Amino acid sequence: MFIFQLVFFLFLNMESIESLDSMSGRARLNYCKYPDPTNLGITSERVEKLLASLSLEEKIGQMTQINTGNMTDPVTKRLDPKLVNFYVKEKKVGSFLNTMYEKINQPPPTPDVWVESINLLQTAYKETRSKIPMIYGIDSVHGANYVYGATLFPQQLGLAATFNRTAARVTAEVTAKDTRAVGIQWNFSPILDIAVNKQWPRVYETFGEDPYLAGQLGAEMIIGYQGCNELNSPVKVAATMKHFIGYSASRSGKDVDGSWASERIINDYFRPSFQHAMEAGAATVMESYSDIDGDHIVNSKKYLVDLLRKQMNFTGTLVTDWEQINKLHEPIHIAPTIKDAVRRVMKLGTVDVSMVPNDADFVDILLELVREGKVPEAFIDQSVRRILNLKEKVGLLDADGLVDPQSVHLASIGSASDAGKSLDAARESIILLQNNQHTLPLPPTARILVTGPTGDSLSYLTGGWTYTWQGPLGEDDFQGKGTTILQGLRKHTKAAVDYIQGVDIEGIPSTSIADLARSANDYDAVVLCLGEKAYTEFKGNINDMHLPRGQINLLETLVKDVHKPVIVVLSQGRPRVTGPSIRNASAVLGSFLVGPYGGDAISEVIYGITNPSGKLPITYSNHANDNNLNYYRRFNEIYDNVYWEFGHGLSYTTYSYSSLVLSSATIASNSDIQATVTVTNTGTIPGKEAVLFYITDEYRSISPEVKKLRFFEKIYLDPQQSKTVSFKISLQDLAFYNAENLRVTEAGTFILSVSDLKSKFELILPEGQESVRVDF
Ligand code: BGC
Repeated sequence: MFIFQLVFFLFLNMESIESLDSMSGRARLNYCKYPDPTNLGITSERVEKLLASLSLEEKIGQMTQINTGNMTDPVTKRLDPKLVNFYVKEKKVGSFLNTMYEKINQPPPTPDVWVESINLLQTAYKETRSKIPMIYGIDSVHGANYVYGATLFPQQLGLAATFNRTAARVTAEVTAKDTRAVGIQWNFSPILDIAVNKQWPRVYETFGEDPYLAGQLGAEMIIGYQGCNELNSPVKVAATMKHFIGYSASRSGKDVDGSWASERIINDYFRPSFQHAMEAGAATVMESYSDIDGDHIVNSKKYLVDLLRKQMNFTGTLVTDWEQINKLHEPIHIAPTIKDAVRRVMKLGTVDVSMVPNDADFVDILLELVREGKVPEAFIDQSVRRILNLKEKVGLLDADGLVDPQSVHLASIGSASDAGKSLDAARESIILLQNNQHTLPLPPTARILVTGPTGDSLSYLTGGWTYTWQGPLGEDDFQGKGTTILQGLRKHTKAAVDYIQGVDIEGIPSTSIADLARSANDYDAVVLCLGEKAYTEFKGNINDMHLPRGQINLLETLVKDVHKPVIVVLSQGRPRVTGPSIRNASAVLGSFLVGPYGGDAISEVIYGITNPSGKLPITYSNHANDNNLNYYRRFNEIYDNVYWEFGHGLSYTTYSYSSLVLSSATIASNSDIQATVTVTNTGTIPGKEAVLFYITDEYRSISPEVKKLRFFEKIYLDPQQSKTVSFKISLQDLAFYNAENLRVTEAGTFILSVSDLKSKFELILPEGQESVRVDF
């Protein structure tokens, strides 16, 4: 009976997941591929005329972005009209950002408050000389997280675990719809940083450690946000690729620490995700808080002019990160005054928008600098041309930017169908890391003790950038939208499911752990829910990769003293270390930050209603000092320390890989070869499998990576069904930056590996030629 039920449920869930994936793959990306995807480099006659009509003050105003968090009256909880007039009419500011409730300790504005505020701002522009509406920017990074009631999705690291391009695209589509519905046209997402240091508090905002995975999913999100040249659609927003570049290579693992990375490393590992994003048409880019070898990005000719504008030919709008120009003065100490900081940055002629964002001094300072001849007006014109171009593309030059409070898109915010999409993504993001003796799935008759701090919480499943910058203020913020792990388990069984917290998120015991372990023996299984509190940016800095000691104590005691299966669920923003006792847990599920529907997804996996298909987007070492380990740079001696490698993830069914075939054993500079592999579901239940193709360069002039992901595809397979997955290999897939910082492929042998199959092929170059240039 149970087996029948299991197969039946699996069938139901797999169907919805399959439809999610139906448009994925490279073909989708190519659909949006134009030589200049959003025609960003081409400005219209209208833009040129408008530009010519603006005064210098008006032009500089266009380049200024102000935080509305400073403009909200704490009593009325509305924008202060005096401040609106000051910024719009006196300072001629062209852009605003952030949640208006930044400084008010409560959940973010509801859609109607947003609409009222955006309309107040846009109405003020009607009374200005130029009448150009403002553009509003926001961090809608996992759903429209600053619009109260909008559907929240897994954070990017969770999306990465799905290895499903469509999950990323659908997430971005709903996010764009809900963000644009309230009158916001510009989204500061996705993050394209590569999570090289696992201690970094922004790891959960990334797609993990692999440049190809980050580039592919980033590109899908950009297509989801912008469509293909559809920026002026009422359900689309301009995307931002951030943070350019190298920010995640924090030397210490703390946020905003400098990066020690060579130019070659930056090109080889950090550039590709931005390059993919550009191909998908990203309209804007945000520079980063970091410095590379002491060269602060905002002030860097090397990275912002030579790399971004010249080599990569990015013609879209470039915005600074928060207060970054001012910071060149304090705390960075490059510029003796703020005026000198503005001068240094603006004389590079590459930054278009300064996210100032807490005062309008930038306007006066830049005005002075241009008048003194220290910043050429031509640079101002070029930036304003790019900004007006963006405004035109998002439709702000055709209309006044006012939002219709009756719009159907507003009414659709937080719909059941959007929640279903979030749940679909959540299901695919759950990773079965360990399943000793097939402990999972549990039968629905199992009596379960749920314990641990994340067992009955939506906040800990969802994380930072949720309602407020640092995450939810409390569980009530979710207004009942979502399912905790405890609630999820209870939905699917009539058997007892009880909860004893044991320890709080900091590891402080709320009960006797010895008593808890004794009671646990009265149940059929224990679900131990561990994880991290919500945090964002530097507030999530840690000094130790271990989970709080009290959480580890709980794990150690339960696996030692409980003679029933202990199933650990890890809900966290980065792979925190639990210590060796995790190996004695019967099963381990990884959920990263799965979002408020995580409790449904996790409990479905525990009962076998959903067959897990997530894979690790980041190597999970269980040693606190292994922060910088990643699968492509590992060496044999550190292999033993890696607990779960990038790409690891189990299933309730079994897959066999066969017939890895290459269309040719040699590849040439002008011809691709085709790799195919057959994957068969050899088990008795349906499943989804992410098929990962890696390539190893056997020998090359710069020590090669152990292997590198070059293609992936997620497929659905019924029991006994086989599918063939193909990957066209070109020199692009073999290229790397050599010691001279040139992108090349060298002659020699390569090993293609998929699962445990391997096949060799060779690049033969004309006699005497060792390498060939391969530009992006
Ligand atoms: C973050 C960015 C974000 C910006 C605006 C900064 O602190 O680094 O990722 O887009 O704030 O909120």
